Amino acid sequence: MANKSLAKPHEETCILVTGGAGFIGTHTCVELLEQGYRVVVVDDLSNSSEKAIDRVRAITGTDAPGQRDRLTFHEANILDRAALDRIFSAHDIDAIIHFAAFKAVGESVEKPLEYYWNNVAGTLALCDVARAHGVKNFVFSSSATVYGEPDFVPITEECPKHEATNPYGQTKSMLERILTDLYIGDNEWNVVLLRYFNPIGAHPSGLIGEDPKGIPNNLLPYVAQVAVGRLACVGVFGDDYPTHDGTGVRDYIHVVDLARGHVAALDWMGGKVGTGAPSGPDAIQGQPAEDGSRRGVGVFNLGTGTGSSVLDVVHAFERACGKQLPYEIKPRRAGDIAENYAACEKAREELGWTAQYDLDRMCADSWHWQSMNPEGYATAQ
Ligand code: NAD
Ligand code: WQD
Repeated sequence: MANKSLAKPHEETCILVTGGAGFIGTHTCVELLEQGYRVVVVDDLSNSSEKAIDRVRAITGTDAPGQRDRLTFHEANILDRAALDRIFSAHDIDAIIHFAAFKAVGESVEKPLEYYWNNVAGTLALCDVARAHGVKNFVFSSSATVYGEPDFVPITEECPKHEATNPYGQTKSMLERILTDLYIGDNEWNVVLLRYFNPIGAHPSGLIGEDPKGIPNNLLPYVAQVAVGRLACVGVFGDDYPTHDGTGVRDYIHVVDLARGHVAALDWMGGKVGTGAPSGPDAIQGQPAEDGSRRGVGVFNLGTGTGSSVLDVVHAFERACGKQLPYEIKPRRAGDIAENYAACEKAREELGWTAQYDLDRMCADSWHWQSMNPEGYATAQ
C-alpha cells in the first residue's frame, strides 16, 4: 500500500502523537498546533495527566469554540490494537510522532519484561496498525544513549553505536533497527530517527513542563525540586571525571527547541527542506515519491553542541531561582559516562534546525514551571 503524502500544507496534515500528554509530547503538540497541523494524541496516562492536554489547549487557543477539533485526545494504550484501529479509522492521519514509552533507566533494569513489552511490542503494534491504514511516515524518539560510551565528542551521526548498558537503552537501539528493517522490506516507509540529548526546560508560559512521578531520576527535575523545597539536597554523582570540574558533562537542550526539531523533521520528510542526503551509517536515502515526499531512514542528533557539567547546571539553576542550592558529592552512578555532547551540523544543514536557547534560559523556564506548579499537575485546575 502506498504511503500518505506529506508534501502538502500543514493545515491539511494530521499528526498522530503517541505519548502526547508527556513531557516532550505536550511541547511538541504546542509547536505542531502553532504551525497549523491538526493533532491526535494517544496516551494511556501511565506517566502523565490529562490536565497537560488542557494546558496545551490553553496555550494554543484550541480550547476555543471552532478550534477544539484541531486537537483530539484518546486515552488508550498503544498495545491495544483494537483501540488504535478505531483511532486510525476515525482520523485521516498522515504521520506519526512516536513518544509513548517507559523511560526510567534504573527501573528498566528491574523490570525488563515491562520495558521490552511496552516499548518494543507497543511500537510493533503501532506500526502494524499504521501500515494497515497506509500511514508509513514515522518519527521515532531515539536517544543519545544508542552511542553508549562515545568513541569521540562532539558525537556525529557517524559515531559508532555501542551496546546499551540497560534494557531501556536496548529498546531504543532495537527499535532503530526494526524501523530501518521496515523501510528495507517496504520502500514506502519514510522514517526519521531523532537522537535526543538531554531535554530539560519548559514552555515559557509555565503551563507545561516535566512532572516525574516519585523521586526524579534525572538531574534537572531533581534540582528543580530542591529549589522549590520538595527535596533537601542535590546529590552530585561523582566529581572525579576527566571534565572541567570533575562532574559529568551532558548536552542539555531546551524542550521547546527539541519540539521544534520534530516540526522540522516533518518538513524534511515532506521534501520541503534539505537534500535528503544520508546522515551517518544508519541512514538510508530512498527514492523520493512522485510528490517529493522522502522515503528512507533519516538519522539526526538533536542537541545544542554545548556540554555542561552537573555543577554548571546547579549554578545556572541558582541564578534562575535566585538562591543557593545545597549539594553534596556522592559516588559515581553505575553506568554513567564522563561526557557527551552532540555535533549538530546535520540537523542544521538538512532540517534547517538549530537550538536557540542556552542553559540559563532552560533553567529559567524550568524554574518558572516548577514555581508555578510546585506539585506538578497534581494540584492543577
Ligand atoms: P514521558 O514519560 O513524559 O512521556 C511518555 C508518554 O507516553 C507518557 O505520557 C506516558 O503516559 C505515555 N505512554 C507510555 N507508555 C504508553 C503506552 N503503552 N501507550 C500509550 N501511552 C504510553 O517521557 P518524555 O520525556 O516525554 O519522553 C518521550 C519519548 O522520548 C520517550 O520515548 C523517551 O524514551 C524519549 N526520550 C526521552 C528523553 C528524556 O530525557 N526525557 C531522552 C531521550 C529520549
Ligand atoms: C545527567 C548528569 C549524572 C541525577 C538519561 C538517560 C538517557 C536520556 C536522558 C532517555 C549525569 C548527574 C543526575 C542526580 C547527578 N533519557 N546526576 N545527580 O544519565 O545523561 O541521561 O536521561 O532517553 O537515556 O540515560 O541524564 O539527568 O540522569 O544525568 O549528579 O540526582 O547528572 O550523573 O552526569 P543522563 P541524567
